[in-house]
Amino acid sequence: MNIVLGITGGIAAYKAPDLVRRLRERGAEIQIVMTASAEEFVTGTALQAVSGKPIRSNLWDKEAEAAMSHIELARWADVVLIAPATAEVMARIVSGAAPDLLTTICLATEAPIALAPAMNHVMWNNPATQANRAVLEERGIHIVGPGIGSQACGEEGAGRMLEPDAIAATVFNLTGGKGQGLLEGRKVVVTAGPTREAIDPVRYITNRSSGKMGYGIASAAAAQGADVVLISGPVNLPEPPGLEIIRVESAKDMFVATHEAIRGADIFIAAAAVADYRPSAIANQKIKKHDESMTLQLTRCPDILASVAALDAAPFTIGFAAETEKLAEYARGKLEKKKLDMIVANRVGQDCGFDRDDNAATVLWNGGERSFPTSSKVELARNLIELAAEHFYAVRGPETQPRLSIISNND
Ligand code: C5P
Repeated sequence: MNIVLGITGGIAAYKAPDLVRRLRERGAEIQIVMTASAEEFVTGTALQAVSGKPIRSNLWDKEAEAAMSHIELARWADVVLIAPATAEVMARIVSGAAPDLLTTICLATEAPIALAPAMNHVMWNNPATQANRAVLEERGIHIVGPGIGSQACGEEGAGRMLEPDAIAATVFNLTGGKGQGLLEGRKVVVTAGPTREAIDPVRYITNRSSGKMGYGIASAAAAQGADVVLISGPVNLPEPPGLEIIRVESAKDMFVATHEAIRGADIFIAAAAVADYRPSAIANQKIKKHDESMTLQLTRCPDILASVAALDAAPFTIGFAAETEKLAEYARGKLEKKKLDMIVANRVGQDCGFDRDDNAATVLWNGGERSFPTSSKVELARNLIELAAEHFYAVRGPETQPRLSIISNND
């Protein structure tokens, strides 16, 4: 796949070298086109090194134009991706103005165009930017993200550029190809988030899971070329692009959805914090307070993970063990009792685990273990997927492993 990667002047441009690597790992050829303001944030030298091609930035560069004109470049592209895309470049594309090489290519190409916006949340929510977004979408331009979270300016909100893995997965989906990756052609089912167990029409029992780890894992698997089904409990996260998402509430719903999705799956990763118990009966009406105390009768929820591992045609099955103490001991116990291929043990408490952007973990399997120090959940998810793929092929036959192209000039 030939990708023209446009880089515009936002702080998220510092992620561009990583994005280039993620796209090239999947077998894409990249031609970078920078705007003048992008050069304030990231150097052309770094980008040339990772992309393996001279950078284009100037519409009036006679030598470069002679080698491949802007029209040829627009035709060469299977996709034009702009990441980060500023509010300014969105406005320019909407207006049809083409004062520089990148916007000229956008006018001249017939390939799909994708924009990964990145800007301060007030700029993103500004009616002008939102109107431009709507026009771009009407015209068939794909808007990838933005994500919600902490921003470079120190504020919180919508406007973060999505992670390079997620952008890469979306871009490959645009052309119907998942590209190369460790899990190309594999089906991966992931559960994520908490479950809600209803007490009555207005109350429920739940837990502190944010879903960030499971969503990160699903995105990392999709970025490695897998067909991913993400079964998600109620969370407050943007939908990761490039995968199928099934939303559920209770442990029972998650059980049913998982067993429907699991047919033909190669790998199952249970990152959800599923309730262990649910109220034995759900009251039809809101329960009124009468006495000083009340007792809730609880019933065990089905263990989704153990039920998948017990299937005759069980996929390669990975569980999570979130513990406040005796981490390795409890995790190894679960690995054996639930008959898992791997278990990811992580400590939970006030200062780690749930509802945070970072995490540390130790992965255990029969006869081995590997620890990952604290890193972002996105980074940890990528490492976990690479380790899972390695063990999956070791167990299920190395001859089935896809051959990946080697990126030689940037490692
Ligand atoms: O036994 P414990 O609940 O600590 O095991 C945690 C692992 O089991 C996680 O991978 C979780 O997703 C999974 N699990 C499940 N169904 C349950 C309870 C836990 O799939 N009812």
